[in-house]
Amino acid sequence: MPKTLIEPFRIKSIEPIRVTTREQRQGFLEEAHLNVFNLRAEDVLLDWLTDSGTGAMSAEQWAAIMRGDESYAGAPSFFRLQAVVREITGMAHLIPTHQGRAAEKILFTSACKSGQIVPNNCHFDTTRANLEYLGVDARDLVISEGLQPATIHPFKGNIDLARLEALLKAEGERIPFGMLTVTNNTGGGQPVSMANIRACSELLHAYGKPLVMDVCRFAENAMFIKLREPGFEHLSPLEIAQQMFSYADAATMSAKKDGMVNIGGFIVLRKDEWLERVRQLLILWEGYPTYGGLAGRDLDALAVGLKEGLNEDYLRYRLRTAEYLGEKLEALGIGFVKPTGGHAVYIDARTVLPDMPREHYPAWALCNALYIEGGIRGVEVGSVMFGKRLDDGSETYHSMELVRLAFPRRMYTQSHFDYAAEVIAEVKAAASSIRGVRIVKQPKQLRHFTSEFAWVD
Ligand code: F0G
Repeated sequence: MPKTLIEPFRIKSIEPIRVTTREQRQGFLEEAHLNVFNLRAEDVLLDWLTDSGTGAMSAEQWAAIMRGDESYAGAPSFFRLQAVVREITGMAHLIPTHQGRAAEKILFTSACKSGQIVPNNCHFDTTRANLEYLGVDARDLVISEGLQPATIHPFKGNIDLARLEALLKAEGERIPFGMLTVTNNTGGGQPVSMANIRACSELLHAYGKPLVMDVCRFAENAMFIKLREPGFEHLSPLEIAQQMFSYADAATMSAKKDGMVNIGGFIVLRKDEWLERVRQLLILWEGYPTYGGLAGRDLDALAVGLKEGLNEDYLRYRLRTAEYLGEKLEALGIGFVKPTGGHAVYIDARTVLPDMPREHYPAWALCNALYIEGGIRGVEVGSVMFGKRLDDGSETYHSMELVRLAFPRRMYTQSHFDYAAEVIAEVKAAASSIRGVRIVKQPKQLRHFTSEFAWVD
């Protein structure tokens, strides 16, 4: 059997990418106020800013788009999607939204109130922001290994059950529900084990609290369980996903990830408890319940994508992609969140820039350097994303300084990854010349998207 795990697809339609010079990129980045979010995508060579909504759709999905029915109410597209979602999740109620954060906003507004606490392994930035916007305390309780980039653990996304229980005991009446994010994006795209999902669900239920899962990358999580958790090796990713969902009472989904589509999301609810309020808010903010925030054609593309995202050959190649780049970083002596996650590689910027003070945002600085050196756009997951400027002008910092290189699905091939490893090697070799940054303009929330920066002299 040949060793190379190939991309399990061939290319039918291509998009050229544009090579620019180092000097041009330096200029583009300065025009972008040293914030890669402000770059024009056509000035980026490898766009690894996010795996969200950026992947390539299959021929079957494009065919499904032609089948999309745009009826305002009761379109067959909705029922086709509902059948697939019911098969995977076992949950009765599907509420389509335009993307994950709309699902969060609607569910949280329906089920939480100010002064409450919502525990999670780690809240993603929009999840945290949506809760905080409602005056809810978003509490991260991932296991300690999940915050140590170099520590190897098969399920670094697991929630710390002892801390969850202590919180339920101490503050139970303030907790409307518990959450689990699969995979744990903020902590490195790390999976949660079936044992942990089950135990978390049982613990919450013992205290009368529902489990809401944030399931953007549920298929990648299912594949990690298959590869790493004893007893699951002979089950299909679909069967594993079904079991994962069986422990949850509700879920929010950004379909832009494992739904394999460019836009879309949904809420699923097992029971009727939050249904009425959720539907009302859906109609108010998104649309009628059988289309939510989407076109009929989007619902059909998603119905096909959800199944394709669970294909075992695809998932094997998908997880291998990140692992492959991880092996190259290891050979270069560069630290990263280990083992590599499902959708991305998270470089530990402190291992490239050990002497840069955190006040100069080393992960942001590394992100800029990757763009200047090789046209690669990643995203900082560090103290710009998760730190805050307090009213007294002081700053809080994040526990890790990471640069996430997130891989759009079915889009880049092995030579793109070989090229990226060469760029990263060059950045490391010239690390002493990398400049830190300071923030010159920032909004109050989700500051990484729009802040403006200047070089530190
Ligand atoms: N939850 C998680 C774990 C996510 O990673 C995201 C999005 C969302 C919720 C929100 O979904 O974007 O459809 O509104 N993550 C993207 C990323 C943006 O780059 O990781 P959305």
